[in-house]
Amino acid sequence: MSPLPTFSTMAPEAGLKQAMSLSRPDIIETMKQSGLKGRGGAGFPTGMKWNFAAAAQAAEKFVICNADEGEPGTFKDRVILQEHADLVFEGMTIAGKAIGARSGIVFLRGEYTYLRPQLEAVLDKRRKQKLLGKDILGSDLEFDIRIFMGAGAYICGEETALIEALEGFRGEPRNRPPFPVNTGFLGRPSVVNNVETLASAACILQKGADWWKATGTANSTGIKIFSVSGDCEKPGVYEFPMGITVAQLLKEVGGVGAKAVQVGGASGLCIPASQFKRIIAFEDIPTGGSIIVFGQQRDMLDVLHNFLDFFVDESCGQCTPCRLGNRKLLEGVELLREGKCSMAYLQELCALGDTMQIASKCGLGQSSPSAFLSVVKNFREELMGRTYSHV
Ligand SMILES: Cc1cc2nc3c(=O)[nH]c(=O)nc-3n(C[C@H](O)[C@H](O)[C@H](O)COP(=O)(O)O)c2cc1C
Ligand code: SF4
Repeated sequence: MSPLPTFSTMAPEAGLKQAMSLSRPDIIETMKQSGLKGRGGAGFPTGMKWNFAAAAQAAEKFVICNADEGEPGTFKDRVILQEHADLVFEGMTIAGKAIGARSGIVFLRGEYTYLRPQLEAVLDKRRKQKLLGKDILGSDLEFDIRIFMGAGAYICGEETALIEALEGFRGEPRNRPPFPVNTGFLGRPSVVNNVETLASAACILQKGADWWKATGTANSTGIKIFSVSGDCEKPGVYEFPMGITVAQLLKEVGGVGAKAVQVGGASGLCIPASQFKRIIAFEDIPTGGSIIVFGQQRDMLDVLHNFLDFFVDESCGQCTPCRLGNRKLLEGVELLREGKCSMAYLQELCALGDTMQIASKCGLGQSSPSAFLSVVKNFREELMGRTYSHV
């Protein structure tokens, strides 16, 4: 069976044909009714995002597909692009009609350069089939897509840094507001959506909002694609319904008996075995789809060291809480490893993590302390034994 059963059963272009028969407000209403929330991690409602961009008055608008996929442990967008590029481009074209854009851009992770020829071939085929370009499917709809290569910076997955990079500047996040739906690429209204969000949108237009809502939970509708790695028998890319428990997921991937699961990548939460009954959904444990399984043999300090090393490297350095905070957390983990961190200092580091979550400018610094804070909270006993108790 394909790892992506739902995407595999979609009839070619049925979603786009349905969108052509609908008005712009009706497309957006279908998206709103479906309850689809963005698959890039933040879970912003897609219909609402499209509505904001549709309402913005401008001569030019853009649909941007975020294929930067830099979160550690995430590789599902690569598989979606490899196996279902047509569905992603169909979703972009539907979004183009919905918001009134004529241009789409795929921001493709630099490490995925090898995918580009295949994606360009799909775009060429679509132009020949009158699914892109002028007079799409014999209508007056005009929309085309180009590919822009990223250059390997994790921060360029953050939508405003991505837009800066597209404009030829350093990939550094912008202040928000204004949001990209009003002032995005070249100052024009722009919808930025994850690869999976766009493919899901095409499915929703084809099968309807009720079909999508029939899976998942009331607040987190539909299916979700997961990238599963780490200490399990069957790592890979999986489709599961939203609302699956961590325990159910572990059973499917051969990870029963795990010590912990990191949900949402390095910037996500570390869930201990005592909480495996919790559900993966925006109302409980949110995720962009990265699942990293840790077996009993794993030292949680090694895990944290790895993640924080990554954030120190990837922080763009624009704001102090993130630029210095990640360094201090990394140093703290090193002190803990050496048995030189007191309980009092560990508490100070937790307070620093709380401050970073509030005071950092963008999602990187706001979420980079999450793993540290959740490991300290959930593996207290293990860490207490590593602190220097005489200070
Ligand atoms: C540091 C950082 C990296 C991100 N990387 C990605 C990414 O690789 N892909 C992605 O879709 N969203 C990423 N995001 C989220 C985007 O900023 C944005 O919310 C998302 O592309 C919106 O799409 P969605 O509404 O379809 O989820 C990242 C956010 C941050 C803060
Ligand atoms: S939080 Fe980090 S990545 Fe984001 S703007 Fe500040 S320094 Fe840059």
